[in-house]
Amino acid sequence: MCGIIGYVGSRGGLQVGVEALRRMEYRGYDSAGVAIADGTGNLIIERKAGELANLEAAIAVRGSGEFQGSTVIGHTRWATHGSPSDRNAHPHLDETGKIAVVHNGIIENFAALREELLAAGVELKSETDTEVTAHLVSRAYFSCPETAGNFVESVLSVVRGLVGAFTLVFTHADHPDTVVAARRSTPLVVGVGEGETFIASDVAAFIEHTRNAVELDQDTAVVARTDGFEVLNFDGTPSVARPFVIDWDLEAAEKGGFPYFMLKEIAEQPRAVSDTLRGHFIDGRVVLDEQRLAEQDLREVDKVFVVACGSAYHSGLLAKYAIEHWTRLPVEVELASEFRYRDSVLDSSTLVLAISQSGETADTLEAVRHAKAQKARVLAVCNTNGSQIPREADAVLYTHAGPEIGVASTKAFLAQVTANYLVGLALAQARGTKSPGDIAREFADLEAVPELISRLLESVESVRELAQRYSESSTILFLGRHVGYPVALEGALKLKELAYMHAEGFAAGELKHGPIALVEEDLPIIVMVPSPKTHPILHSKILSNIREVQARGARTIVIASEGDETVAPFADHLIEIPSTSGLLQPLLSTIPLQIFAAEVAQARGYNVDKPRNLAKSVTVE
Ligand code: F6R
Repeated sequence: MCGIIGYVGSRGGLQVGVEALRRMEYRGYDSAGVAIADGTGNLIIERKAGELANLEAAIAVRGSGEFQGSTVIGHTRWATHGSPSDRNAHPHLDETGKIAVVHNGIIENFAALREELLAAGVELKSETDTEVTAHLVSRAYFSCPETAGNFVESVLSVVRGLVGAFTLVFTHADHPDTVVAARRSTPLVVGVGEGETFIASDVAAFIEHTRNAVELDQDTAVVARTDGFEVLNFDGTPSVARPFVIDWDLEAAEKGGFPYFMLKEIAEQPRAVSDTLRGHFIDGRVVLDEQRLAEQDLREVDKVFVVACGSAYHSGLLAKYAIEHWTRLPVEVELASEFRYRDSVLDSSTLVLAISQSGETADTLEAVRHAKAQKARVLAVCNTNGSQIPREADAVLYTHAGPEIGVASTKAFLAQVTANYLVGLALAQARGTKSPGDIAREFADLEAVPELISRLLESVESVRELAQRYSESSTILFLGRHVGYPVALEGALKLKELAYMHAEGFAAGELKHGPIALVEEDLPIIVMVPSPKTHPILHSKILSNIREVQARGARTIVIASEGDETVAPFADHLIEIPSTSGLLQPLLSTIPLQIFAAEVAQARGYNVDKPRNLAKSVTVE
């Protein structure tokens, strides 16, 4: 999830570009860069790894006078392909230095395109998937008879051949009055001013200049000029665009209209899951393309250890259910902070799955080092490209949740669960414990989840009402069985950290071994109920557990699958979630708990993005 800007008009391009990047820095801060067409056949480019301040410092050293010109493209990066470095920072140039591009998204067929370019003798300067598009447009513009000399047609001919999700914005030194952008499945909005046009990832980039904006369909290109803009389909025919007026203030615009980043991140979960799955099922096979372990290495694994902290640990608990079920391998899940202080038994046949959103968590990093010292193979599941844990691991599978600003993990958690399941399927495939048909069905079920999340997010009003109602409770308990148990732990953690309310998650079967003593009149208890279709026995067992707490006066808030007719008498409040396969239910049942915690916190007057005493990245043990 990067921030991108394109501008044509009469203002100073440098100032417009840098201001827009500042407004979008929350979208990524691995690097920043601008390219300006100076109107005399040159592009002036500067880009720097790290926060925007580094770019500004580099520009200051050169002197802003060097950056004359109105037409600009700019980028603030959340790294996906290639580490966060000056070399991988956008914009990327073609070999002539005339064409520059910025990109948000993932180009899935970039490896094949890269090979093609290398075979044609093109020298690639970065490790990104983006750079190939600059060279391809260059070849179309300078050497292909059908598109030669036509900037717009050259861009269209290239984007037609791309697979994946992308917003690309190109500038051309010989066409300083034009910026060309194209989008598929990633955001792009046009800002329409007087004698100027903006193209950006979100309206925050240009809201101080114009409130007139245009929303674009999938697979559309925009040709922006000072006197207006054209919207085209990738085949060059005119496309529809929907004008709208932005009525947010600047702060609301940065948060996509949500009062808190966390709420925006909850809403981004369909994309976090689909982006994490993207490109990992090719020709009927699960592909972990960012891992450096061969299929043979996966075949040799005889035990899996999962190490992680907090929410990432809960995602690891879910991994245990899936990996054991699909692969018949034993899986141990351990808090990273405990792992290295006991004599855990591992060797070169052990696969250690280290899960971390930030990739910097000290406890998890130390667990990785401990595992490597014992010759185990370490596969990191991480959301932050180039961070320490993936650097030290033997292999990495990136989650593509984009930057998470809210301290509490939401979309990163769902992306971790998704990636862990991909690891499980890859292990099952390598070991032959699941047939190709079974694996294809499991993957298809995963691919259906983003749509189900979107549907669920449209019907969560009742969760908000419940949060208001129970916001003054002193304790809330969470119960679950099987995969519902880690979800119960995650729901309790969210409530503790955001609302500062006492909460505990329990395996429902454990209740009668002690915690049931906590149950008293009107105590709210949130219960995850598995679908009777996928888990009939567990379903009836948990209904018995609900009966036990109801008999002692508890108020039950039940999260159950749509169509579960038997559950209503057990629920003082029923929250229905779309049905899916048993193992995938946590990708849905967690969401009402995230919303519940955020709403209780707001009702209690707390800032949900910055809970007290917590930090996003915990770099001390
Ligand atoms: C809870 C939360 C934390 C993190 C934990 C690990 O909402 O965000 O529990 O999950 O600190 O962080 P990472 O995943 O960065 O290693």
